[in-house]
Amino acid sequence: MVSRIAIIILFHVFLSLNSHHAKAQAWIKAGYWYYDNDLRVSQINSTLYTHLICAAAGLNSSSYHLSIPSSEFSAFTNTVKRKNPSVTTLLSIGGWDTNYSTLSAMAGDSIYRKSFIDDSIKTARLYGFQGLDFSWLSANTSDNMDNMGTLFEEWRAAIVLETRNSSLSELILTTAVQLSPTLDYGSFPIDSIRRNLNWIHVLAYDYYDPEWDNFTAASAALYAPDSDVSTDSGIAAWIDEGLPASKLVLGLPFFGYAWKLANPSENSIGAPATGPAVTKQGDMSYKEINRYSKTQGAVGPIYNSYYVVNYLIVGSDWISFDGVDVVRIKVSYAKEKALLGYVVWEICQDDNWVLSQAAGGFDSGGGVDHKRKRLPKSRILIIILTTTAAVIILLGLAFYFIRIRILKSKSKETKLKVNNAAAAGDFDNNNPDMIVYSLADIGKATDHFIFENKLGEGGFGPVYKVINLLFFIGFHGTLLFNS
Ligand SMILES: *[C@@H]1O[C@H](CO)[C@@H](O)[C@H](O)[C@H]1NC(C)=O
Ligand SMILES: *[C@@H]1O[C@H](CO)[C@@H](O)[C@H](O)[C@H]1NC(C)=O
Ligand SMILES: *[C@@H]1O[C@H](CO)[C@@H](O)[C@H](O)[C@H]1NC(C)=O
Ligand SMILES: *[C@@H]1O[C@H](CO)[C@@H](O)[C@H](O)[C@H]1NC(C)=O
Ligand SMILES: *[C@@H]1O[C@H](CO)[C@@H](O)[C@H](O)[C@H]1NC(C)=O
Ligand SMILES: *[C@@H]1O[C@H](CO)[C@@H](O)[C@H](O)[C@H]1NC(C)=O
Repeated sequence: MVSRIAIIILFHVFLSLNSHHAKAQAWIKAGYWYYDNDLRVSQINSTLYTHLICAAAGLNSSSYHLSIPSSEFSAFTNTVKRKNPSVTTLLSIGGWDTNYSTLSAMAGDSIYRKSFIDDSIKTARLYGFQGLDFSWLSANTSDNMDNMGTLFEEWRAAIVLETRNSSLSELILTTAVQLSPTLDYGSFPIDSIRRNLNWIHVLAYDYYDPEWDNFTAASAALYAPDSDVSTDSGIAAWIDEGLPASKLVLGLPFFGYAWKLANPSENSIGAPATGPAVTKQGDMSYKEINRYSKTQGAVGPIYNSYYVVNYLIVGSDWISFDGVDVVRIKVSYAKEKALLGYVVWEICQDDNWVLSQAAGGFDSGGGVDHKRKRLPKSRILIIILTTTAAVIILLGLAFYFIRIRILKSKSKETKLKVNNAAAAGDFDNNNPDMIVYSLADIGKATDHFIFENKLGEGGFGPVYKVINLLFFIGFHGTLLFNS
């Protein structure tokens, strides 16, 4: 009993020290507002966000100055700060609408780069933006990728210089990038990104879409059992390539895709499809999905725990999306991986701020799916430690106790089986690597089975993800509850 309490205490100390250390920049709750939509700037509930990004300025192809597409941009910052004075605003530049060749020409020429950089800083200051967010998702050659590195280098230098002469704080500089740091034609300039940008927005969605893929799919799957196209793989790749987790902000889609099923009776993920449904390209905002679901009497939403996605079915229309639970799980994932925060594309697609509230940890009335369940916590721990050395010694002790407990628990009556491959349907009772844990240990490991750690229901019962105790001793997989 004593050892168990010690372990819990030590683990909490470990966690709090760890998170304190990583908190140079506070947790980011960012959202893009796209000007060409039905939500006016004055209607934004800015209290739900720490950062709001106004999207998107284009590029004038003769002057390489910014072109501002809407009169709403100039009042954006003042307007959103009325409801939340501490919200930080960024001006987004580029994106899908921008002329690709103009971007290439700008980045490839030092005079054009200077013209662009100087104008971007001037425009940000003129309108009161506190940062600039650049997205060049079409830098489709390795030369362009190299030029992007140079651009970031010169941009940061200009920003530093400008700050020296002004009484204002230094502009934030970020970029929006694809899921993968290495693309067919080249790699993102990781080194320049690390040195010159505050963080990056990883647009972790659009892995599949109904125009290109003739099968139903989770377009923003957190995990994929049989492929490396998943948010988890993408995040791991950015970290592998040398960008610290603390520079990564996870993209959350507030939209989904509708496929037309080839055969309405085959309606699981991966079922044959014949193209987009409901809209021209199949894309639907969360708001539209909810409305369609209610008016058409959809089946679902169904939650798939392998991919972490919701989908619903209306006759031969099959729609996958991220609902309230999925958003919460992805935010928990971002915290668990010690990322810097999340960024939503885009806030106007939300339905009455339900997803924004779920992501931000605000209590909401709940969405289309389950409500949050959390068992009360009765632990009150006040620990003061003065030296790191003490912590290291205590961690060693904790590790020792855990090993002992695991060995002991093997002989207990309640049998809970752990198998990393179980979630992938590869469950094997005779697996020699399988360890048996007690219910108490597993309760701790999953933080008392709180909702975020539940991956879903499998054929063997509810499946939970380990975040706590077992993660601490280096195990990170899926637990299978098999009573
Ligand atoms: C904005 O969100 C906050 C937090 O959920 C909520 O308390 C507030 O009522 C919302 N305001 C509006 C205008 O929706
Ligand atoms: C681009 O800039 C040029 C030169 O400043 C200007 O004459 C032209 O009107 C601009 N084009 C657009 C579309 O704003
Ligand atoms: C894109 O910009 C290039 C020059 O940078 C110009 O020649 C071309 O017409 C532009 N394309 C469009 C669609 O505006
Ligand atoms: C890159 O994009 C430009 C503009 O769309 C196109 O003209 C060019 O052929 C593309 N290059 C490659 C290597 O795909
Ligand atoms: C900064 O101020 C100095 C002295 O006032 C001036 O010479 C320099 O040009 C200014 N630099 C910028 C980038 O404005
Ligand atoms: C999807 O398209 C591929 C390539 O065109 C084809 O081989 C495959 O049979 C198609 N699958 C379905 C389910 O239609």
